[in-house]
Amino acid sequence: MQKDYILSLEADRWLFHPDILVDKAHVVMLKERGIIKKAEAAAILNCLTGIEERGDDFIEHELSAYEDVHTAIESVVIREIGEDAGGRMHTGRSRNDEVAACIRIALRDELFELMAAVNGLRNALLEKAAEHVETIMPGYTHLQHAQATTFAHHALAHADAFARDFARIITAYEHTNVSPLGAAAFASAGFPIDRERTAKLLGFESVLENSMDAVSTRDFIIETISCFSNLVTNLSRLAEELILWSTSEFNLIRVPADYATGSSIMPQKRNPDYAELVRARAGTVYGCLMSVLSISKALPYSYNRDLQEVTPHLLKAAKTTTASVAVMKSMIEGLEVNVEEMEKKAPRGFTAATELADTIVRETGIPFRTAHKIVSSLASVLADENMESIKDKDSEKVFVTEILQRIDDFALGITEKKLSEKGLTEKKVKEALNIASNIQKRSVKGGPAKKEVKRMLIKRKADLEKDEKSGQEKEEQVKKSFDELEREVKKKKRIIKIIRKPNHNILSVFKK
Ligand code: ARG
Repeated sequence: MQKDYILSLEADRWLFHPDILVDKAHVVMLKERGIIKKAEAAAILNCLTGIEERGDDFIEHELSAYEDVHTAIESVVIREIGEDAGGRMHTGRSRNDEVAACIRIALRDELFELMAAVNGLRNALLEKAAEHVETIMPGYTHLQHAQATTFAHHALAHADAFARDFARIITAYEHTNVSPLGAAAFASAGFPIDRERTAKLLGFESVLENSMDAVSTRDFIIETISCFSNLVTNLSRLAEELILWSTSEFNLIRVPADYATGSSIMPQKRNPDYAELVRARAGTVYGCLMSVLSISKALPYSYNRDLQEVTPHLLKAAKTTTASVAVMKSMIEGLEVNVEEMEKKAPRGFTAATELADTIVRETGIPFRTAHKIVSSLASVLADENMESIKDKDSEKVFVTEILQRIDDFALGITEKKLSEKGLTEKKVKEALNIASNIQKRSVKGGPAKKEVKRMLIKRKADLEKDEKSGQEKEEQVKKSFDELEREVKKKKRIIKIIRKPNHNILSVFKK
């Protein structure tokens, strides 16, 4: 008989503390509603505290002997205080609502940790951005040089993505933080239990009302891992840029030495393994999402054992995501930005071409499409001749004069008129070719101009502070509920009159 097949030990370890809390809240409520007696509640609560104190020892020595963590704890309570008292703990509930409540409580903690980690990463990106408002770098489309931007603008783009991830985590948290307790197997309970009370003692925002829905659904898990998937996608794209930009070909950045490894054969290597693993582990998280979706999709309501198989994927996805965020935060904090190389590379590939076309439109009034054609013709000859070399051998003045002449030649062919005769001057051409000044011209909302980037930085900092506060408040709220729960447990533990009737253990049927 393969009894181990039914176990889910790692997930059950994760659910051990939440289960103790759920048990305590349920017993406090049963006592308050007069469903169990004072002495019975006291005996159970004392025993639960003892199990909680045993902690790892309990997990190590008791857990694997039972079908699951819920059965283990209940069986040990009955073993210790007898069935007359211990056998009343499970009154008006089922493992179905119990496990659903435990998962939600355990997940809440994971989400708090993740919220703090994501905000830490956002902060690291904002700090890096603040250091590099003036750092000009090439911007890419199709991984080809496109237009110049600043490193601050680029870092802010990633910070904004993580701000949206934070907002998604909050929504997932809200859908997680509702109590299924009291739904029992699915048909609720035949005792006058108080669902609101257990919800409050456990820090849940409200009760998940329909008792069939409460035990059947795992959509909060799907939603949460979807959020993780979005987040790890954003992380992976950032990781990809770190990997790419730290190659000799790009040479725009260096990842911190602690987050790189050497080669066993090539002494000079600094491999970005951590970034590569962040990229790879996005795949691990997607795998968890696919598993949960596939496990859930064909399940009839209410509970089926298949649901147990969902929990380890949630646990794995949560731990993987938070660890990847934390690694990325450290990598960003220690990132070395190769300012000189970025600035040197920024004009390459004629990245001023767009501004040159824009300048032509502003100065001569011809349509943008026509200006695009003229500059495009210019770009292809400059590419053939290598613009950098023309610039190097001649003075700036000669270079600009030559560019304007060529623009006129192409304009003549396309519009039958020279643009210099329509108001385009050497001064304006020179200005358009100046990368730094054409970044400053992009000062529309969200653009890379210094003024706009500084405004965005201030706004992002304020948003981050608000988000940090909202995460902390949620955590504080849960802590307050747990404090209340502990106060109630303490009060009710005071009367101890243990009713022991050994060898009357109905749960022994579950025992291996
Ligand atoms: N270990 C189970 C799980 O994680 C607990 C629920 C068992 N309920 C039941 N009806 N067999 O889903």
